[in-house]
Amino acid sequence: MGAADELLAQMRVQGAIPRHVAIIMDGNGRWARERMLPRPVGHRHGMKSVREVVEASIEAGLEVLSLFAFSQENWQRPAGEVSALMSLLEEYIQKETRELHEQGVRVVFLGDLDRLAKPARAAVDRVMALTAPNTKLILNLFISYGSRAEITRAARLLAEDVAAGRMTPAQVDEAALTGRLFTAGCPDPDLLIRTSGEMRISNFLLWQLAYTEIHISPVLWPDFGRGDLYKAILDFQSRERRFGRVSA
Ligand code: IPE
Ligand code: IPE
Ligand code: MG
Repeated sequence: MGAADELLAQMRVQGAIPRHVAIIMDGNGRWARERMLPRPVGHRHGMKSVREVVEASIEAGLEVLSLFAFSQENWQRPAGEVSALMSLLEEYIQKETRELHEQGVRVVFLGDLDRLAKPARAAVDRVMALTAPNTKLILNLFISYGSRAEITRAARLLAEDVAAGRMTPAQVDEAALTGRLFTAGCPDPDLLIRTSGEMRISNFLLWQLAYTEIHISPVLWPDFGRGDLYKAILDFQSRERRFGRVSA
């Protein structure tokens, strides 16, 4: 039994498995720099970590895995890096779709997808349609995503509904707003992991993370594997979630 298997066994006896884990996949650039390689090489290695973490999530029995892959702010990186990331997205879809589908993964892309180039957008739509009936794991991939933009969009949709007389201002409540986010219908994350030691949210799921436990891993994303995911879940299981109340 390997080290990660031992962590998995420990996790199973220690407590409940989180339903939804979200990850800010960070540190690809530093991983490449440490090796004197161009940044896109770090992104490419990061794809292997995605594969491993998806498999580990299925094995652990998560319902939802959310991965922050490309932020709205990331569009402002140098054009060469942006285009390398977009090519990797298409390559990921091309290489992984079949296996994800066979594993029963439902792949959902969330973000301002209209900004994607036509071929990338078409690939994204195809995977979503193909895997829509799958139920083993929901894999949320956040691309061209910013949480403030998501909340602003939800507010605009509510305003349109009120202006059109489909709802009254009094009906604008938390549930109505939650239902207009990209994540509508998805439980909030129980655990947020950020890799590479950074202690920031970086405009990710600001609304949905209200009571999420946060685990900062020092590991750079291209080095992050199954055992690191299980360590984070073990850490999560040791927390006492109070949701503003007092302990029992
Ligand atoms: C995360 O790695 C991947 C993306 C944000 C697309 P970075 O590219 O941010 O890597 P660092 O933070 O520069 O090391
Ligand atoms: C956050 O990482 C976005 C993704 C992981 C996709 P960044 O590296 O872009 O965030 P900052 O700039 O460190 O806040
Ligand atoms: Mg970064």
